[in-house]
Amino acid sequence: MTPGATTGGSPLEQYVRSAVAAHRADRGALLPILHDIQATFGYVDPAVVPILADELNLSRADVHGVISFYHDFRKSPAAGTHVRVCRAEACQAAGAEQLVAHVKDRLHTDIGGTSPDRGTTLDQVFCFGNCALGPTVEINGRISGRVTPQRFDALLDKA
Ligand code: FES
Repeated sequence: MTPGATTGGSPLEQYVRSAVAAHRADRGALLPILHDIQATFGYVDPAVVPILADELNLSRADVHGVISFYHDFRKSPAAGTHVRVCRAEACQAAGAEQLVAHVKDRLHTDIGGTSPDRGTTLDQVFCFGNCALGPTVEINGRISGRVTPQRFDALLDKA
């Protein structure tokens, strides 16, 4: 199927095909397309895999492999509150691992999971570009630096 063709399809499919059309000339088009999908829908629905494979002439395994390799891509919608903790080097040196342990305890879930009350999803990120102010946490899109366990609790209560 050619990009931009008006074949109907779900809004997701239409979006994916238009994102492909916008990035088709880019080298390594798959990653920017996946970022666009996640920015628009909040996650990368597994239903996009066959569409992208078809559009980009890749195998479904190739597309799935890229989505799985990059931890930034969610495979399901986040809960009402979305917490992302940086685990890259600079934040680790500033205490990110202790913070991650605290956050897991506080939310009663692991990285990639959702709290038992279904209210908060926890994900990890490898650098927000806020390295000088680690440990860095993002709650519902808002980045905070120098986050201690106590500060995390306060930020979460406010969210
Ligand atoms: S290393 Fe955490 S923001 Fe860059």
